[in-house]
Amino acid sequence: GSVGVVVVAAGSGSRLGAGVPKAFVRLHGRPLLAYAVDTVARLPHLRSVVVVAPLDHAAPRDAADPVWEGVELPSGAVVVAGGAERTDSVAAGLAAVDATCDVVLVHDAARCLTPLDVFERVVEAVRRGAAGAVPGLPVVDTVKSVDAEGVITGTPDRASLRAVQTPQGFRREVLATAYGSGLRATDDAALVERCGHHVVVVAGDPLAFKVTTPDDLERAERLLARAGR
Ligand code: C5P
Repeated sequence: GSVGVVVVAAGSGSRLGAGVPKAFVRLHGRPLLAYAVDTVARLPHLRSVVVVAPLDHAAPRDAADPVWEGVELPSGAVVVAGGAERTDSVAAGLAAVDATCDVVLVHDAARCLTPLDVFERVVEAVRRGAAGAVPGLPVVDTVKSVDAEGVITGTPDRASLRAVQTPQGFRREVLATAYGSGLRATDDAALVERCGHHVVVVAGDPLAFKVTTPDDLERAERLLARAGR
């Protein structure tokens, strides 16, 4: 069995306020995307890598586009243009994955420091028979649901909650069918769950945090400095 990976990197990253799309913001001189791609390239049984980039930056082999400098795409990797929302970007990426892959992972470029073993745990769970697998961590805060006025409508038992990360992995045909259904979500697993499939949570890692704010970028820089990268 072989693995295809879609790295979604087409978000604007307006909360980061950096002037370039988030995946191309530099961390120790290289774009966030470069770190994510480096890890993906080390994955065993990797057959297909698709990077989904913003429309304006979807032609990296055009040497005139400096935002790609520092990204080392594995040979055979494909770059496609993303869409307005993450769902559109994932759908575009999925359409470009080698059809002979039986497991597909979808990974946020913004989770650029996700360790390789998180990828391996996700692949392993799908190989063992789950329709999908996502990395998650226990939730430390109590979480409330609220209505439009801010009135609390529920307090789920914290022990039953997980904060989920990426890469999220699925049997390829299950994810393709879920995306073909026209449902939309910020999370790939949610689509697959709604189609009635069992998706499991495997152990995530605090290093798989999503770079969203300038503070997150600083944290990533400190972690890289500590790792000597
Ligand atoms: O915006 P957010 O941080 O949730 O984005 C998560 C990931 O999805 C990022 O890596 C971002 O580049 C990607 N994305 C995308 N296309 C969009 C929106 C987000 O590829 N339209």
